[in-house]
Amino acid sequence: MKITRRTALKSSAVAATALALRGPRMFSQASASVDAHIDIVPGEPIGTISPELYGHFIEHLGGVIYDGVWVGPDSKIPNTRGIRQAFIDTMKAVEAPLLRWPGGCFADSYDWRDGLGAAANRPARAGFWGQEDSNQYGLHEFMHTCRAIGCKPYLAANMRTLPGRDFYQEIEYCNAPSGAVPTNSAAPPVRNALAAQRSANGDPEPFNVDLWGVGNESWGCGGNLVPEEYAAMFRRFTAWTPSFSGPPLRLVAVGPNGDDVDWTRRLFKSLYSNPERRHLFGLSVHYYTSGSPTEFAAGDALAFGPDEYYDLLTRGSIMERVVTDHWAAIGNTQEAGQPRVKLVVDEWGAWYGKGTSLGPEYNLSQQSTMRDALLTGITLDIFQKHADKVAVAAVAQSINCIHSLMLAQGDKFTVTPTFHVFQMYLPHRGGQAVRAEFSAPAIRNPLANAPIPAGGNSYTGSLEAVKLLAGLSGSASISPSNPKLLTLTVVNPHLDRPVTTEIAVAGASIASYRGTVLVEPDVHAHNDFAHPDAVHPAAAATATPAGGRVAHTFPAASVTTLQITLA
Ligand code: AHR
Repeated sequence: MKITRRTALKSSAVAATALALRGPRMFSQASASVDAHIDIVPGEPIGTISPELYGHFIEHLGGVIYDGVWVGPDSKIPNTRGIRQAFIDTMKAVEAPLLRWPGGCFADSYDWRDGLGAAANRPARAGFWGQEDSNQYGLHEFMHTCRAIGCKPYLAANMRTLPGRDFYQEIEYCNAPSGAVPTNSAAPPVRNALAAQRSANGDPEPFNVDLWGVGNESWGCGGNLVPEEYAAMFRRFTAWTPSFSGPPLRLVAVGPNGDDVDWTRRLFKSLYSNPERRHLFGLSVHYYTSGSPTEFAAGDALAFGPDEYYDLLTRGSIMERVVTDHWAAIGNTQEAGQPRVKLVVDEWGAWYGKGTSLGPEYNLSQQSTMRDALLTGITLDIFQKHADKVAVAAVAQSINCIHSLMLAQGDKFTVTPTFHVFQMYLPHRGGQAVRAEFSAPAIRNPLANAPIPAGGNSYTGSLEAVKLLAGLSGSASISPSNPKLLTLTVVNPHLDRPVTTEIAVAGASIASYRGTVLVEPDVHAHNDFAHPDAVHPAAAATATPAGGRVAHTFPAASVTTLQITLA
């Protein structure tokens, strides 16, 4: 279904675009030729943008690990130690900071010991997603993947089917040095047995894993627990964990299903009902945007009309409420004398039905279009705008899955439009997020009154309240190395309306700027194995600044990165 100018104009969404102006106009001068304003306020810092906001996730699911990441050392497909070379290269191209593994739901049935030792001796086991797992890809192969990419490992530990002993021994296996370890007692140093086993399995150097998820979705596949039950398990699993000379452990507690703030409130109340200081770095948050307004994990990745397009982006933007609501719900931690807990949004993305899967054995694989590129931009901008709250995020999942950067099948490979957005947002990494006010004609979500989707990881509470999609959204940051260099990323979701926008910087003048834009005449545009470069970014057409401001035109249905140099 091609969305033409005529069909877009007929859409109730676009007919209603001029309904509202978002946010206050602060100091911009009115201009007849300008229909939106972005006011950047460098004097109002929000927080440092953690490079870990651009994290990744791979799970033993469909074709994610087997075929996607792991092709095996004897494969004709180019690989490093069995890991698909194109996967490594693409993850390097987006400077992936971290990779989460082995799940997802898979993690809570997985025994990390099954993936150790000689490949031929590893047991095949039934895995969560109804698959037999050969265990050819185990802990060491995962660590080699991270080393090849140059990223941090983020392990999700099994809390549902393994006892706490396995959790702390997995930490020991990963982090104990292989030489003699001081005993912190009157006894002489000794070699740690699990480190010796790791060494015998080929890796004498510790993996130094600091980021640990303590279970996954314990309200669902991770145990069907209520928050009080999970809190008790979390306290028991984490009351003591082994520490060595590496970085301190960052433990992540299982958070809510989407917007379920009740989970967060009850979890923290229960966690702190025992006054011992908690070893808690972050709260995991999962929020997926279904391709259908009425059903979870439904809708078509490729066949959608203007209404579905606007509806998906509107519901995707709810991520901002998800972030701020859970942040507010855990805001009591400082009062309780406990460490500040950050948000770890370690599963997010658009989740469609099976229509565009690579094949039946590639469970949850789906195509990805310009619509998903816009959702990527909207989501990353939300994380950046809330850099004081969100410390880590991971897109679900990197390859052959829900909101992937890559698709691979045998020797066929392509990146998706989402890959390009990850690359375009790199200049924000490590920057100082600053307030930026956007005011632009908003879009009414034409499907706002559809019933709330039931089940799954989605928005369960206040969908009906979300009727408007911002006519322009984005975020701004100051370069960590140059205070005169700003990065501004902007999504224009209007299907048929380029938005000419006056950009101003409070207390400063724009001297020059340049930009990159991802835009296609049709939002259904996507890459496939035959056309891996159909969607790619280009240099943005720029205007000449005047009076310290600039009027830049953001094309319809586009994602833009601008690099602004101040005078
Ligand atoms: O990413 C797919 C699944 O979605 C994960 O396994 C699970 O955590 C979530 O429900």
